[in-house]
Amino acid sequence: MDKAFHRVMSTEELAPGQSKAVQLEGVSVLVCNVKGEFLAVENRCTHQASELEGGRIRNGMISCPLHGVMFDLRTGCGRGPLGKVPLRTFVVQVVGDEVHVGLNEPAEADS
Ligand code: FES
Repeated sequence: MDKAFHRVMSTEELAPGQSKAVQLEGVSVLVCNVKGEFLAVENRCTHQASELEGGRIRNGMISCPLHGVMFDLRTGCGRGPLGKVPLRTFVVQVVGDEVHVGLNEPAEADS
Protein backbone atom coordinates (compact mmCIF):
# COMPACT_ATOMS: atom_id res chain seq x y z
CA MET A 1 0.00 0.00 0.00
CA ASP A 2 1.12 3.54 -0.74
CA LYS A 3 2.91 4.92 2.29
CA ALA A 4 0.85 8.10 2.06
CA PHE A 5 -2.16 6.12 3.26
CA HIS A 6 -2.94 6.06 6.96
CA ARG A 7 -5.25 3.73 8.82
CA VAL A 8 -7.72 5.99 10.59
CA MET A 9 -10.46 3.76 11.98
CA SER A 10 -12.37 0.54 11.54
CA THR A 11 -15.48 0.61 9.39
CA GLU A 12 -17.55 -0.29 12.46
CA GLU A 13 -16.61 2.93 14.22
CA LEU A 14 -18.64 5.10 11.86
CA ALA A 15 -22.29 4.38 11.14
CA PRO A 16 -23.95 5.60 7.93
CA GLY A 17 -24.71 9.33 8.10
CA GLN A 18 -21.99 9.99 10.66
CA SER A 19 -18.67 11.79 10.45
CA LYS A 20 -15.56 11.79 12.59
CA ALA A 21 -12.49 14.01 12.51
CA VAL A 22 -9.00 12.57 12.70
CA GLN A 23 -5.63 14.30 12.75
CA LEU A 24 -3.23 13.27 9.99
CA GLU A 25 0.15 14.96 9.81
CA GLY A 26 -1.29 18.15 11.22
CA VAL A 27 -4.35 18.14 8.98
CA SER A 28 -7.82 17.71 10.46
CA VAL A 29 -9.51 15.21 8.15
CA LEU A 30 -13.21 14.49 8.33
CA VAL A 31 -14.12 10.92 7.47
CA CYS A 32 -17.77 10.44 6.52
CA ASN A 33 -19.92 7.39 6.01
CA VAL A 34 -22.32 8.02 3.13
CA LYS A 35 -24.61 5.00 3.04
CA GLY A 36 -21.68 2.65 3.52
CA GLU A 37 -19.27 4.56 1.30
CA PHE A 38 -16.39 6.21 3.15
CA LEU A 39 -15.33 9.65 1.98
CA ALA A 40 -12.87 12.16 3.42
CA VAL A 41 -12.55 15.93 3.20
CA GLU A 42 -10.63 18.56 5.12
CA ASN A 43 -12.49 19.31 8.35
CA ARG A 44 -12.45 23.01 7.72
CA CYS A 45 -15.14 24.94 5.93
CA THR A 46 -13.77 27.14 3.16
CA HIS A 47 -16.23 29.90 4.08
CA GLN A 48 -15.11 30.89 7.57
CA ALA A 49 -13.02 27.93 8.70
CA SER A 50 -15.61 26.31 10.93
CA GLU A 51 -15.19 22.59 11.61
CA LEU A 52 -17.53 20.48 9.53
CA GLU A 53 -17.65 17.57 11.97
CA GLY A 54 -21.20 16.91 13.04
CA GLY A 55 -22.71 18.61 10.00
CA ARG A 56 -25.74 16.90 8.57
CA ILE A 57 -24.97 14.46 5.77
CA ARG A 58 -27.61 13.98 3.09
CA ASN A 59 -27.39 12.84 -0.52
CA GLY A 60 -23.61 12.81 -0.44
CA MET A 61 -23.42 16.40 0.82
CA ILE A 62 -22.44 17.76 4.22
CA SER A 63 -23.92 20.97 5.63
CA CYS A 64 -21.54 23.22 7.50
CA PRO A 65 -22.86 23.55 11.08
CA LEU A 66 -22.11 27.29 11.17
CA HIS A 67 -23.90 28.83 8.16
CA GLY A 68 -25.28 25.76 6.44
CA VAL A 69 -23.31 25.82 3.18
CA MET A 70 -23.46 22.39 1.58
CA PHE A 71 -20.41 20.67 0.15
CA ASP A 72 -20.28 17.60 -2.04
CA LEU A 73 -18.24 15.01 -0.15
CA ARG A 74 -16.94 13.40 -3.35
CA THR A 75 -15.79 16.49 -5.23
CA GLY A 76 -15.51 19.02 -2.40
CA CYS A 77 -17.57 21.50 -4.41
CA GLY A 78 -19.76 23.85 -2.42
CA ARG A 79 -23.19 25.21 -3.25
CA GLY A 80 -24.15 28.83 -3.46
CA PRO A 81 -22.14 32.04 -3.15
CA LEU A 82 -20.62 31.12 0.22
CA GLY A 83 -19.38 27.77 -1.09
CA LYS A 84 -17.34 29.00 -4.05
CA VAL A 85 -14.08 27.56 -2.76
CA PRO A 86 -14.14 23.75 -2.78
CA LEU A 87 -13.06 21.62 0.16
CA ARG A 88 -9.87 19.64 -0.10
CA THR A 89 -10.75 15.99 -0.64
CA PHE A 90 -8.76 12.88 0.17
CA VAL A 91 -8.66 9.41 -1.33
CA VAL A 92 -10.12 6.70 0.89
CA GLN A 93 -9.42 2.99 0.66
CA VAL A 94 -11.28 0.39 2.66
CA VAL A 95 -9.01 -2.56 3.34
CA GLY A 96 -10.90 -5.37 4.99
CA ASP A 97 -12.67 -3.62 7.84
CA GLU A 98 -10.21 -0.74 8.07
CA VAL A 99 -10.55 2.74 6.62
CA HIS A 100 -7.36 4.25 5.18
CA VAL A 101 -6.99 7.85 4.05
CA GLY A 102 -4.39 9.10 1.59
CA LEU A 103 -2.77 12.48 2.10
CA ASN A 104 -1.64 13.02 -1.47
CA GLU A 105 -2.24 16.40 -2.95
CA PRO A 106 -5.71 16.90 -4.39
CA ALA A 107 -6.31 16.51 -8.12
CA GLU A 108 -6.30 20.24 -8.79
CA ALA A 109 -2.61 20.33 -7.85
CA ASP A 110 -1.86 18.82 -11.29
CA SER A 111 -1.12 22.17 -12.88
S1 FES B 1 -18.22 28.75 8.06
FE1 FES B 1 -19.10 27.12 6.99
S2 FES B 1 -20.74 28.03 5.96
FE2 FES B 1 -19.83 29.67 6.98
